[in-house]
Amino acid sequence: MMFHTAALALSLVGACVQAIPFQIPVLASQFTRPVNLNPYPNKQRLVFRPDGSFKLTVFSDLHFGENPWDDWGPQQDVNSLRLMRTVLADEKPDYVVINGDLITGENTFRENSTLLVDEIMAPINEAKVPFSSAHGNHDNQANITHLEEIRREIRVAPLSYTRTAPLGIGGVEGPGNYWVPIYRHAKDKAPTLILWFFDSRGGFSPNPSSKPVPDWVDESVASWIGQETAAMNAAWGPASSRMALAFVHIPPHAIQAVQATLDPLKNPGLNADQLGQGSSQATADPADADKDVPFWKALNTHIKNLRAVISGHDHGNEWCAREPTQDVIFCFDKHSGYGGYGDRSWGYGVRNIVFQSADPTAGVKTWIRLEEGETRGAVVLDENFGL
Ligand SMILES: *[C@@H]1O[C@H](CO)[C@@H](O)[C@H](O)[C@H]1NC(C)=O
Ligand SMILES: *[C@@H]1O[C@H](CO)[C@@H](O)[C@H](O)[C@H]1NC(C)=O
Repeated sequence: MMFHTAALALSLVGACVQAIPFQIPVLASQFTRPVNLNPYPNKQRLVFRPDGSFKLTVFSDLHFGENPWDDWGPQQDVNSLRLMRTVLADEKPDYVVINGDLITGENTFRENSTLLVDEIMAPINEAKVPFSSAHGNHDNQANITHLEEIRREIRVAPLSYTRTAPLGIGGVEGPGNYWVPIYRHAKDKAPTLILWFFDSRGGFSPNPSSKPVPDWVDESVASWIGQETAAMNAAWGPASSRMALAFVHIPPHAIQAVQATLDPLKNPGLNADQLGQGSSQATADPADADKDVPFWKALNTHIKNLRAVISGHDHGNEWCAREPTQDVIFCFDKHSGYGGYGDRSWGYGVRNIVFQSADPTAGVKTWIRLEEGETRGAVVLDENFGL
């Protein structure tokens, strides 16, 4: 339980109604928020490089732990660990994101499922790189949950910035909603970049009553985004003075319609996964079709200079495209794990993202890098992208 308490304490900024032991008890209102919004008082501030750049590398869909009773499952994880070590050594990112489906939970055992988190953390701990995780539908299964993975990660990986939202935010089995501030200089009053992480849930609730979990970001996250951004604006100045990047494992529902409009010249990268039922949020059951709309609208309304929204889940897709209804850029990750469905010819790799300037309106470079070093799908995410 210790870790649960720590995680909650770290996520205090969102909940004006949550009593925080060391805060002076005052009436709950937006004015009771701490002026210093730093959710990581005990961690090093994350900063841009002296040259004004900041590089992220995204691992996605690692799918550790398949068929531990066979040879091929463990061999996949050996290959995935090799990929992680190769990429981290070559790319030297300033921050790593693990964007969901760390583990194929269906194949895990109640008594030792989170040991797979330790395996995944090993290359990251060795590289001593700050990072955080979002979780996917395969991370919620009978013998594993998002919350269990988060607690284990915080325990075994000192440079983890993963948090949970206050209790009551995120819906059933969806605790992983949080943000991470990145500063231009360590002593700046306000961050220049906010990394947002959202929990799109899915999969199954834990045993013994395992049943399907909704496959979208819960509506409670929409109002939480409003509260968090209002607190940021009050503490740091207008939203337009910062930029943002958002990560969520399952693509928002609106991305499904974008696929039909792709132009290989404007939207380079593999497009091998036709988006259908279960491929984007709120599509597992057609009756839920608009359930992620509150989240999608809140995200695009309250967060300014949102350079891109980034998802995994569909292993055969690598493209970036502009989503016209919210006028926001969406990018797929690259399937990083040798586990999970796929085709050898798709390759395995990462998405790199480089901010070249702390100017919140500047373009951002991104591309896919395969394990062997090949790169493809390079684009600049700016006002002109996709037009
Ligand atoms: C979960 O773990 C238990 C205990 O190890 C095991 O018996 C069971 O087969 C596992 N899988 C599922 C889907 O329950
Ligand atoms: C968990 O226990 C099972 C059954 O003993 C074993 O096959 C598997 O490798 C173990 N998993 C981990 C991650 O240690």
